[in-house]
Amino acid sequence: MGIKQAAKLAAAKPKEINGTDDLLALEAKYCSWGDTVHYSEKPNVFKSADGIYLYDREGTQYLDLQMWYSACNFGYKNKRLNRALKKQIDILPQLACQYIHEEKVQLATKICHRSETTFEEKGRVHFNVGGSQSNEDSLKLVRNCSGRNLVFAFMGGYHGRTLAVSAITSSFRYRERFGHFGDRALFVPFPYCFRCPYDKKRDFCDLYCLKQFERLFETEYYGVVNKKNNKCEFAAFYIESIQGTGGYIVPPQDYFSGLKEILDRYNILLVDDEIQMGFYRTGKFWGIEHFNVTPDIIVFGKALTNGLNSIAGIWAKEKLISPDVFPPGSTHSTFSSNPLGTAAGLEVMKLIEESNFADLIPRKGRYFLSRLKKLQKKYPQMGDVDALGLALRIEMCQKDGYTPNRELADTIANIGLDGKLSVGGKRRGLILDIGGYYKNCFTIAPSFYITEKEIDLAVELFEEALSKALKKTS
Ligand SMILES: Cc1ncc(COP(=O)(O)O)c(C=O)c1O
Repeated sequence: MGIKQAAKLAAAKPKEINGTDDLLALEAKYCSWGDTVHYSEKPNVFKSADGIYLYDREGTQYLDLQMWYSACNFGYKNKRLNRALKKQIDILPQLACQYIHEEKVQLATKICHRSETTFEEKGRVHFNVGGSQSNEDSLKLVRNCSGRNLVFAFMGGYHGRTLAVSAITSSFRYRERFGHFGDRALFVPFPYCFRCPYDKKRDFCDLYCLKQFERLFETEYYGVVNKKNNKCEFAAFYIESIQGTGGYIVPPQDYFSGLKEILDRYNILLVDDEIQMGFYRTGKFWGIEHFNVTPDIIVFGKALTNGLNSIAGIWAKEKLISPDVFPPGSTHSTFSSNPLGTAAGLEVMKLIEESNFADLIPRKGRYFLSRLKKLQKKYPQMGDVDALGLALRIEMCQKDGYTPNRELADTIANIGLDGKLSVGGKRRGLILDIGGYYKNCFTIAPSFYITEKEIDLAVELFEEALSKALKKTS
């Protein structure tokens, strides 16, 4: 190496990191922000995690009510799941996915058994590395069996941000800078009853929104169906059983069964994206189990591995995915069924089988919701408070309890992240995730192991942040 080059290298050598500010300066210089979401002005830097808490470099404790966007349902640093991963590291840490390993087969079997008992349907499981990629695989499956590439999806729906799934995710903002999306879904209004897209009231609407969808098939001039042969241009309908990023919106009980009836008439597949709601977030293994419907394809991810060595995947009915119709190589990723991920996933499934989440989660969800409803009486700005299991929503509004108030939601979230709340005489923070059509909803997804005492603490921290935010914003 020449002297000049050596001098250049020495000058470029990163300086020692002495504190959070040094780290943030390096992050600002060297990390792309394109792969993340920079919400707060000064991002938090975390050093450790345990149970429902995160800790920053100064040791401040943050109660986490979003758990990595619902990927860590079973708590941070879950001992049992971590042990399974460590064990796998010492046995078979790596393996090309063209070869078979036991954990993959067992994991797929367990997920299929679930569908066999719940839906009385035989099927197969197909793995990939993340939710978006698995949704992409499901799109291939849909195209493969139908020969069509257009799909319906919901307004407010979120299915990921890779190129193909950006086309079925409703926000134009995620597509805006990336050219023309020829396969853009036809977005249909979701039954969001608090803000009914048709200005109806749930008690009297008789599912008017569903009837409007059905009307699309009345004549060929509405652009979706050929009335001469009953063929539809759309191959599938992508749903989330409970809208996640859209703001944890729970649809009316009989909406999806009505929707499925319409879809079946025109041979349209129902693809249920359970990436955020699956694995008991709502109190059932799949969120869709609340609605008496059998999907044709289920897409899952996130909590399958509790955030350890991510894997995600799809379950599909046998007739769609058997090797005769969907042969080897139809999709492939080097890391798709990596043994560390399948070992973590298998342990999650065993943990589920040995726990009583079907009782525990609705009970905890009811308690949490009742505490929030009490608080809502005091603060009309908590316009809508609702939940299914431990998927809870608080929609922040103006004093009228209806007009969306994004500024208030942002201010509360930032106060929580600032880590200067003082409930119980201790300095703490609160981690909240914001979603919703107007970016004014807290989508609350605590660890399944949160205790009543911790729920009380969470509500107290929320109230402290809310009352500080009201002073700041009014
Ligand atoms: C319902 C839903 N689908 C798909 C995705 C995308 O998954 P991933 O971020 O793992 O690509 C998400 C992520 O938040 C999601 O909530």
